[in-house]
Amino acid sequence: MKKLLAVLMALTLVLAFAACTKQPADTVDETQKTLIMGTNAAFPPYEFVADDGSFAGIDVEIAQAVAEKLGMKLEIKDMEFNSLISAVQGGSIDIALAGMTVTDERKESVNFSDTYAKGVQVVIVKEDSAIATVDDLDGKTIGVQAGTTGDIYCTDDYGQENVKQFNNGALAIQALLNGQVDCVVIDNEPAKAFVAANEGLKILDTSYADEDYAAAIAKENTELLDNFNKALAELKADGTIDKIVEKYINAD
Ligand code: ARG
Repeated sequence: MKKLLAVLMALTLVLAFAACTKQPADTVDETQKTLIMGTNAAFPPYEFVADDGSFAGIDVEIAQAVAEKLGMKLEIKDMEFNSLISAVQGGSIDIALAGMTVTDERKESVNFSDTYAKGVQVVIVKEDSAIATVDDLDGKTIGVQAGTTGDIYCTDDYGQENVKQFNNGALAIQALLNGQVDCVVIDNEPAKAFVAANEGLKILDTSYADEDYAAAIAKENTELLDNFNKALAELKADGTIDKIVEKYINAD
């Protein structure tokens, strides 16, 4: 009995000691705020799933760098591009970083950060295609990623009946290779990645639209908007953003 009591007392002491000496670092980790980023990770080189299953790309690394500056932990939620704006509005994500183009219509639903990259909508066709310029798209079947600016512009310009929506760029490219669509309209950098990964495709020299990419944040979360912009400005100034972009896009 005495022995048991001694053991119990020793145990109590050890536990009490452990509680007192809890590392401050642990405490910080537990209370560290999480920045939840939503994206659609099928858009290389801005966001994609790497071979090891982790998220990679320009947007992912920019978000990581910003989160670090803000003393926050980054969590990434992969979803359909089409769901990102409503996810920001509903609060299931804090921020959408997805090579997202700033448009007036989207600005009615969310705030955009300062821009961090330029995009161009381009046209991908099969190498032997008769389509030579944007002017040849009339009456052709155009593949797009649903809800993207490529989708919106093409639907406006060529009519809903000529536009086929896909859940991501890779599926649109598959449809082009299968002959289900005559071309794909998508952002230039993913276009380059898709053309490099598939035989027999090319990008038309004439581009379709120029745009700016920015992060989308809920209208009421002006604190995050300010903090994000401040961190982004610092990362632009110290060359971090350039370095991240150069890692994924070879200047040519
Ligand atoms: N820039 C285009 C847009 O904002 C396409 C973005 C698609 N991004 C993505 N991660 N799938 O509509």
